[in-house]
Amino acid sequence: MTVSPGTSTPPVATIDRLADFAGRTVTLRGWLYNKSSKGKLHFVQLRDGSGMVQCVLFKKNVPEELFDAVGACGQESSLILEGEVVADERAPSGFELQVSGGHVVQNAEGYPITPKEHGSDFLLSRRHLWLRSKRQWAIMRVRDAVITGLRRFFDEQGFVCIDSPMFTPNACEGTSTLFEVGYFDRSAFLTQSGQLYAEASAMAMGKVYCFGPTFRAEKSKTRRHLTEFWMLEPEVAFANLADVMVLAEDMVTYVVKQVLERRRPELEVLERDLAKLEAIQTPFPRLTYAEAADILEADPDSEFVRGDDFGAPDETILSNRYDRPLMVTNYPAEVKSFYMKRDPEAPDTCLCVDMLGTEGVGEIIGGSQREDDLDLLLARIREHELPQEAFEWYLDLRRYGSVPHSGFGLGLERLVGWIAGVEHVRECIPFPRTIYRMEP
Ligand code: 4AD
Ligand code: MG
Repeated sequence: MTVSPGTSTPPVATIDRLADFAGRTVTLRGWLYNKSSKGKLHFVQLRDGSGMVQCVLFKKNVPEELFDAVGACGQESSLILEGEVVADERAPSGFELQVSGGHVVQNAEGYPITPKEHGSDFLLSRRHLWLRSKRQWAIMRVRDAVITGLRRFFDEQGFVCIDSPMFTPNACEGTSTLFEVGYFDRSAFLTQSGQLYAEASAMAMGKVYCFGPTFRAEKSKTRRHLTEFWMLEPEVAFANLADVMVLAEDMVTYVVKQVLERRRPELEVLERDLAKLEAIQTPFPRLTYAEAADILEADPDSEFVRGDDFGAPDETILSNRYDRPLMVTNYPAEVKSFYMKRDPEAPDTCLCVDMLGTEGVGEIIGGSQREDDLDLLLARIREHELPQEAFEWYLDLRRYGSVPHSGFGLGLERLVGWIAGVEHVRECIPFPRTIYRMEP
């Protein structure tokens, strides 16, 4: 097959849609992921962001300049290739491109990330390039489907998205983990959670969620901690704790199903055990903190001390008992936040919930019913030694039409890591910020 100069260029296709073009000649635009050459043949693995396909350049079928130029191309050179889309059972995409024309846009030399193994520090320093690798590509596409799935879920449930500010004058989740930033002639803090504002929004709109970056100056060096991460926080007027627990399990089940439907090839790249995801169905198991404490105390491998928050090994012991996420309620009030409502049935505990993912991934959601009584909330603010003036606006929500209400916060990167089967949350955000790094 030859293409004479002057013929109009074939339609531009993307690799994920090649099936629509079987047997036709198309233009693909992308980057050279890998290449092998055998005499009169070049095999180019071309990636275009939507997928990867093998492009075959047979010397006698392409202009000589193109054959030579591709032969000289290094990894990540940018290319525009034209050719026929041919079904090929052996190809992962189901197709290959039999190239007839095209050109090299830029010949890249010395691309630093080669198919050999690199250390994580090397890769993190080159995150701007590392994102092009197959595994990172797959994770980012899972993340995208998780975000879209979450937004679809809340939209279908009648929620209004109403976002909270990033600059805040005060703390929500404790003063020790705040990033302070200059704000003209005063200082501000980067938000740790949009919750307090989401509560105000819920009193205006009924069912709301906010979704944005949140910041924690935690000195945590674990695989679960970022200093900047995305949190989705629904807040529902007139809902009690049990209501938002149902919301949380429905949300997680919905999103897992969406990812299974829309990102199966990516999950296969990640070698995710799909049976484990297919098992995620409502209802999720529920335990109180006291019940969970009994289980841990009976376990010889646990160093758990009743009254403390669970450590990562404790969470693993608990979650390994189930094939679905576990919801633990009624933590001791001392280890939880000032805004959580006490359980009238067990007043030294809170009406709160943590959801632990399966396979030992730990907490993915934290939430609670909120204290809706003005005097009790004032007392909590004093007990926690928080400055009352800073919370006057929040207290107004209890002065004017206070109602029972509840909500939770979902850590996006932890959910993505769990669904994608990725150990470390730093691979679950495009440009991770941790205590060690904010470059690139
Ligand atoms: O449990 P947290 O601290 O809850 C709150 O901030 C509440 N105000 C949310 C609410 O009720 N609206 O955080 C919620 C979730 C955690 O379950 C976890 O998934 C994630 O946010 N998270 C982190 N993810 C990555 N890195 C960190 N440093 C995180 N800290 C919390
Ligand atoms: Mg928490």
